[in-house]
Amino acid sequence: MDLAFVVIVAILCGAFGGPLAAAQSGGPFAARIACGATADSVEPETGFVWSKDTGYTGGSAAPLNVTSRIAPQLNTLRYFEISDGPENCYNITVPSGHYLTRFFFSYGEKDNQGREPFFEVSLEGTLVYTFSQGWSATIDNEYADSLLHVTDGAATVCFHNAGHGNPAIASLEILQLYVDAYNMGASSNLNVVMRTIKRVTAGAAQSGYGARMHADVWGGDRYWATDQTLFAPGSLLEVLRTIRNITNYGNPPNIYPEKIYQSATTTSPMNKLSYTIAVQPQSNYSIWLHFAEIEEGFTFPGMRVFDVLANGIPIFPDVDIVAMAGAPFKALILNTTVMAESNRLTITFQPKIGSVAVNAFEIFQIIPRQYATVNENVWALQGVKENLQLPSRLGWNGDPCVPPVHPWNGVTCTFDPAAGGWFVSAVNLGEQGVRGVLSDNWLALQQLQSLNLSNNLLVGAIPTSFGNMTSLATLDLSRNRLNGSIPSSLGQLPNIKQLLLNDNQLTGEVPAKVGALSIRGAIVNLANNPGLCGVGIGPCSKMSVGEKFGLYISLAIGLSCMAAGAFYCWKKKIAITRGAQRLPRDAPYAKARTTFVRDVQMARTTLSNHFSRPAPSYHEVAPLNPH
Ligand SMILES: *[C@@H]1O[C@H](CO)[C@@H](O)[C@H](O)[C@H]1NC(C)=O
Ligand SMILES: *[C@@H]1O[C@H](CO)[C@@H](O)[C@H](O)[C@H]1NC(C)=O
Ligand SMILES: *[C@@H]1O[C@H](CO)[C@@H](O)[C@H](O)[C@H]1NC(C)=O
Ligand SMILES: *[C@@H]1O[C@H](CO)[C@@H](O)[C@H](O)[C@H]1NC(C)=O
Ligand SMILES: *[C@@H]1O[C@H](CO)[C@@H](O)[C@H](O)[C@H]1NC(C)=O
Ligand SMILES: *[C@@H]1O[C@H](CO)[C@@H](O)[C@H](O)[C@H]1NC(C)=O
Ligand SMILES: *[C@@H]1O[C@H](CO)[C@@H](O)[C@H](O)[C@H]1NC(C)=O
Ligand SMILES: *[C@@H]1O[C@H](CO)[C@@H](O)[C@H](O)[C@H]1NC(C)=O
Repeated sequence: MDLAFVVIVAILCGAFGGPLAAAQSGGPFAARIACGATADSVEPETGFVWSKDTGYTGGSAAPLNVTSRIAPQLNTLRYFEISDGPENCYNITVPSGHYLTRFFFSYGEKDNQGREPFFEVSLEGTLVYTFSQGWSATIDNEYADSLLHVTDGAATVCFHNAGHGNPAIASLEILQLYVDAYNMGASSNLNVVMRTIKRVTAGAAQSGYGARMHADVWGGDRYWATDQTLFAPGSLLEVLRTIRNITNYGNPPNIYPEKIYQSATTTSPMNKLSYTIAVQPQSNYSIWLHFAEIEEGFTFPGMRVFDVLANGIPIFPDVDIVAMAGAPFKALILNTTVMAESNRLTITFQPKIGSVAVNAFEIFQIIPRQYATVNENVWALQGVKENLQLPSRLGWNGDPCVPPVHPWNGVTCTFDPAAGGWFVSAVNLGEQGVRGVLSDNWLALQQLQSLNLSNNLLVGAIPTSFGNMTSLATLDLSRNRLNGSIPSSLGQLPNIKQLLLNDNQLTGEVPAKVGALSIRGAIVNLANNPGLCGVGIGPCSKMSVGEKFGLYISLAIGLSCMAAGAFYCWKKKIAITRGAQRLPRDAPYAKARTTFVRDVQMARTTLSNHFSRPAPSYHEVAPLNPH
């Protein structure tokens, strides 16, 4: 007979930078952030230090009115209103290494006023979580963790507002793991994020955290959910438990709590056991199975033999725990990767001799990592952000181009497979109330084809360096308060098709090379710059003429361009400009929610699997007698 448990997986679940209680020297790095807290605190049971996040910026704090599931003294959350911008990130400085990132999400009255918050979460630019419709109006509490390698000196965790409700986060942890942990063999896990779908301690009396199970500190304090809550009343499942010591449970790279091997779920002889988990179809999953023979008297090979199947396909045939581990009470860890065709992943333990038994298992979704924006482009835009004092509603936080569904407002990017990175191809900050002076930062955007800063409050001169932006096809600086003369370097822009400098306070003679652009088929508009003179405007001795007749060279050019048959090529370049996101003025800008396949349905029924009961007691229970 089949004993199936449908486990619907629940995912629990401004540019920041600040000081953190750092790693203990020698030990694994651990950052525990109490979001919204104004003081550091210590978790009484474990002594873990939780850092306040006021060293970070952006967002607002609100009271957490459920008890934190990880550290009971935590009582705040941080939330990000749309006026904080659509992208808000924690940028946490960490040594290079392998990390478990853990989130506790929560939302309440003050931060979301009963609205269901939809938002998305990315790790290092890779979209990992999407919160979709289905939150209830009452307070819920959600948990999520993922494993990833950090190689760039900082772990960036971003919350992407999807335009309904406010992203909210109660706590965030970055816990270092043994570097080679979860090594999947042939397929490296350097270039993936392993999103935890389920981590189960089978047959355990209660769920719990690694640290409270006296696990090695390199184990990342993982949360292990018992499968007991899943057992239907009167089911034929049985529990095996032991207080005897297990060997081989803590050997690098596989560092696990001994406790997960001291209980198991078993069946009566010749019955199958299966766990069914909701997954995303056409995605790869990494399966980790943990065994130790803990039934008294099962000391020899051949007493318990079973097959393990994933969606009906054998993944581990003829598992004989004692034979494979080499001894009873010795840990055996098996891992493999499977592709889920449908939205269900069923792990079946099918007996061949005697009954089946499983001590623990973990299932991860393997998410390929997103390529990052090339550093020079990131630094350039960070410089621009500072230089032009961009309002926070634009949310220029995290990586400018990734996740690709959430580029920075007004920024358009292209992926260059040869360079293995994203480049900024267009920036459109037209009519955004941007003020300040143009800097040389822009020059670093070597693949920038379109720059539109029209209708803002820019002052000062146009930098000569703009003439070195060789990819530029459209430069629209019109309707600002730019002064000084037009740099003649602009005349050497090899690809320029539109140069709009009209309605500024530019003065002096129009450089001949700039005037000549129109002959090459570019649209040049220099109108309404009272102090300009020269080419086509009027002799420099009679400055007032320019003001009156403000020449639209573009008109003449439009004709000559068509005549020359150059219009087609011009149109092609212009597509980039059109492609650049146009931002609405003033109103905080919210993106439409992306239809993202890694959707998570946050129904309360799923929560009950993990957390419906009171938070796990942190005290040891009296050891149970072996079955
Ligand atoms: C959370 O706080 C709000 C406002 O203080 C209150 O109305 C609500 O009942 C609280 N919810 C819970 C579950 O305590
Ligand atoms: C996972 O399985 C692969 C393939 O069998 C193996 O090479 C690798 O060492 C295993 N990883 C760990 C950490 O045991
Ligand atoms: C288990 O190991 C610990 C030391 O790690 C030891 O103190 C204890 O006596 C052992 N228990 C049994 C039942 O052997
Ligand atoms: C799943 O893994 C296989 C083998 O490594 C790979 O070819 C395939 O692209 C992966 N599929 C997804 C959706 O990542
Ligand atoms: C994150 O912090 C690191 C180191 O503190 C810094 O180099 C990097 O520029 C920051 N990244 C962002 C996106 O702010
Ligand atoms: C630049 O942006 C402004 C305001 O968004 C827009 O009106 C104008 O057409 C844009 N310029 C170009 C060349 O597309
Ligand atoms: C711009 O290019 C010219 C050569 O075309 C070079 O002499 C100059 O240094 C460059 N300016 C900058 C700021 O890179
Ligand atoms: C341009 O304007 C700034 C103030 O906005 C002023 O300091 C500077 O002298 C002006 N330059 C020219 C050439 O008029």
